Amino acid sequence: MVGGGGREHAIVRALGRSPRRPELLCAPGNAGIAADARTLEIAAADLDGLVQAVADQSIDFTVVGPEAPLVAGLVDALAEEGHRAFGPSAAAARLEGSKQFAKQVMDAAGVPTPAWRAVEDVETGMRAIGGYPAVIKADGLAAGKGVVLAADEAEARATLQSLLVERRFGTERVIVEECLAGEELSLLALCDGRRAVPMAPAQDYKRIFDDDRGPNTGGMGSYSPVPGIDAAAAGEIAAAVHQPVIDELAARGTPFHGVLYAGLMLTDEGPRVLEFNVRFGDPETQAILPRLRSDLLELAEHAARAGGLADARLDWDPRWAVTIVLASAGYPESASTGDPISGLDAVPPGIEVTHAGTTVKADGTAVTGGGRVLNVTALGDGPQAAREAAYAGADVIDFPGRQLRRDIAARAAERVR
Ligand code: AMP
Ligand code: GLY
Repeated sequence: MVGGGGREHAIVRALGRSPRRPELLCAPGNAGIAADARTLEIAAADLDGLVQAVADQSIDFTVVGPEAPLVAGLVDALAEEGHRAFGPSAAAARLEGSKQFAKQVMDAAGVPTPAWRAVEDVETGMRAIGGYPAVIKADGLAAGKGVVLAADEAEARATLQSLLVERRFGTERVIVEECLAGEELSLLALCDGRRAVPMAPAQDYKRIFDDDRGPNTGGMGSYSPVPGIDAAAAGEIAAAVHQPVIDELAARGTPFHGVLYAGLMLTDEGPRVLEFNVRFGDPETQAILPRLRSDLLELAEHAARAGGLADARLDWDPRWAVTIVLASAGYPESASTGDPISGLDAVPPGIEVTHAGTTVKADGTAVTGGGRVLNVTALGDGPQAAREAAYAGADVIDFPGRQLRRDIAARAAERVR
């Protein structure tokens, strides 16, 4: 397993549930992952180090968590040395690495997405804006911070200035796109180069404060499934969104293997794609994988082979899962580290705690080590039961300045009684 966040911890746990009882290694992992896998001190960005470790440790199969090593070509580098991996090639990972590329692929494949224009200077950008709020997106990887919904002309100009002149994310291009309204949905699909198999739907909470106020974060919570999106609806969306993209990339000679994650807006005119990611979502994965009854290891191996998922059927726990993210003081502008964490031993049984940013000190005590610190996931027969259990678990864990949202899955609980 490559990576070291809450998503990777959830993936390690799911791989560990495989009846094949795999021996698991994780690079670099974190303090929590170290309890479930042997960790290797190799950064996810160190492609040479990772390829070397796969050879040295005779690793059979590599699962890549984060986007950066995928976009940088880790799966290609492994393949060149004859190693199998779960995740797209660099050519296919451009779906996340370049928003312009993703838009061009969607247009070619007839996938519904907001109207857009790519621009490279501030004045052209200002003229491309059709109204406010204006959606402005950096064209490259920006760790979830590259999208601004500018309220007025002044904010739009300042955003274009920061992205195109100061090169805040190192990209020379931005996408200006139509602003849409509706419920958001994360629909991830396992892909084998030919076919997209949708997973259970999930919803993510991007803003730091309740009622979607405050700045965007990496994600403050999630839940799965989503009211109104049953298996048939998810299949329809995958047929209209994921499958045409898979077909288009296959026709271009760059087939997509791994997880294709569509960030969707459910509008009155139907679903529209806001973004593609080429990996599992964080924190969606922490709510999705505890519901997966099928063997993730086997599915990942099948996905790595052309057409390997032809007979795949995904079996889901019918219960609901809710994940609460506990973040450190100052997040998302900064992250307070070294704050002692209490209560980890007192979490009730059946509640899954995955680690995102934690560190173990020499004396064995756990302290905060990043912006998002811990994820607490609970299953329940409905969204209300799941959220009550998740908050009961979250509330026994404490650290100075702890931040959490209180409204995760609240609307789902109102809709599904
Ligand atoms: P993205 O990283 O592209 O998914 O954008 C981050 C967030 O910005 C999304 O989850 C939405 O909340 C919002 N967003 C992105 N694109 C649009 C759009 N075209 N209209 C309205 N909101 C958007
Ligand atoms: N939860 C959003 C993401 O993983 O990009």
